[in-house]
Amino acid sequence: MTKITKICCIGAGYVGGPTMTVIAKKCPHIKVTVVDLNEERIAAWNDPDTNNIPVFEPGLSEVVAEARGRNLFFSTAVDEAIDEADMVFISVNTPTKTYGAGIGQAADLKWIELCARQIARVSKTDKIVVEKSTLPVRTASAIKDILTHTGSGCKFQILSNPEFLAEGTAIEDLNAPDRVLIGGDSTEEGKEAMQALVDIYANWVPRERILTTNIWSSELSKLTANAFLAQRVSSINSLSELCEKTEADISEVSRAIGTDSRIGPKFLKASVGFGGSCFQKDILNLVYIARSYGLQEVADYWEQVIIINDHQKKRFANEIIRTSYNTVNGKKIAFLGWAFKKDTNDTRESAAIYVADHLLFEQAKITVYDPKVQESQVYGDLDYLRSRDPQENRFGVKVTSDPYEACKDAHAIAILTEWDEFKTYDWQRIYDNMLKPANVFDGRNLLDVEKLKAIGFQVKSIGTA
Ligand code: NAD
Ligand code: UDX
Repeated sequence: MTKITKICCIGAGYVGGPTMTVIAKKCPHIKVTVVDLNEERIAAWNDPDTNNIPVFEPGLSEVVAEARGRNLFFSTAVDEAIDEADMVFISVNTPTKTYGAGIGQAADLKWIELCARQIARVSKTDKIVVEKSTLPVRTASAIKDILTHTGSGCKFQILSNPEFLAEGTAIEDLNAPDRVLIGGDSTEEGKEAMQALVDIYANWVPRERILTTNIWSSELSKLTANAFLAQRVSSINSLSELCEKTEADISEVSRAIGTDSRIGPKFLKASVGFGGSCFQKDILNLVYIARSYGLQEVADYWEQVIIINDHQKKRFANEIIRTSYNTVNGKKIAFLGWAFKKDTNDTRESAAIYVADHLLFEQAKITVYDPKVQESQVYGDLDYLRSRDPQENRFGVKVTSDPYEACKDAHAIAILTEWDEFKTYDWQRIYDNMLKPANVFDGRNLLDVEKLKAIGFQVKSIGTA
């Protein structure tokens, strides 16, 4: 029976950091070392003040404070940590390819392959290698291929253990997951490796919630779970447009259909469009995989989820322009929120980026306030699109740490993230300091519309006439 005493996790990002912190907390008998090539990121994880760790997640800094230095370590010494570990998690980024074959759709597995080669190169003992990153189905065979040709004599078992945490609720999700999924080989060695990982999770997850499958099912289930969730958001968002034409109300429709126990109430909240590092990337990858097997109809079906999401973001920006007498040229538009959802500082694929980009083409002047996102991140996100020169982004967009300042003298306010604090603002004060008519475009259906209207605002929500 394999007993794990030392874990190494490659990648100290939004997944590696929180997942390993929780494993370390729940398994004080296991030494957990999280490694990354990014020195700045590791330094931030080691900051004596745990409020400065690089990932903002409710409850995370407290758990880091408890486990760090006891059995949780953050380091840039990648080789040493791999070498001493019995189990190595790969939790590196797998973004959409930006070059070559599969550009804009396939997952870029460059960092995964580098990890596999590094594990192969430095290992002096047998190891279980765990895919924690989200990977295209059949990636394990490539990892296996690299690891079985090392010539070192070391034996490797490969497991798939995708992560289902959502940002903003990562600690809750890790403490009490709906399920933990572990895929592996059906050989004796494969079963033993799976059991070793089951034993780790069994320290806090009820056994019936730990699912074991073959490795390909596990890899594909992760892409599928994200595709299903995103598909619900696109489904409700597509209907929000129909509601706006027919005087049906999307919140009422969501409630009405969500109370059917077969449908369920979650992920039926209409919005300016889904963001985040996972949904779009994973669906594009699913589409690419389906096409590469010649499954055109399957690919087209899932691609529509992305098409509706892009449409929703554009539609929101166009509504701001339309309401502003068809021009936002030189007009100040205040953005409340830049993160892709509340309770995270992550902005990857945030709808705010695309709405801003669209408005900048129309020469709007945007002022952004987000309680957790830094100015450099906002500019970085816009520059990454390469829609215009970086100086033009800085000319068109200002970032402020004061929401009232953001809204002062604005023609319109756009709510891009559902931060709770927006509900508590002094909206009368905001109204008094805005240009009239004072428009609010609530991309999250967050605010109390009647209250705002009573103050004098014109409010446009998603999915209401
Ligand atoms: P991230 O970009 O936040 O972190 C990845 C880290 O890996 C980076 O800090 C990078 O420097 C490091 N890295 C890359 N190559 C390395 C190497 N060779 N050696 C050492 N470090 C290396 O990414 P993330 O959001 O944590 O996502 C990681 C994986 O988990 C992705 O496959 C993603 O799809 C998946 N996932 C993400 C989420 C989420 O909510 N973010 C949820 C579930 C699954
Ligand atoms: C998602 C999956 O939920 C998680 O299981 C997986 O591990 C990673 O990808 P995440 O992207 O962190 O998690 O957040 P999620 O809560 O799924 O939200 C994704 C996007 O959809 C956000 O922009 C959110 O605002 C939006 N959304 C979600 C809606 O617009 N409406 C909804 O009803 C739900």
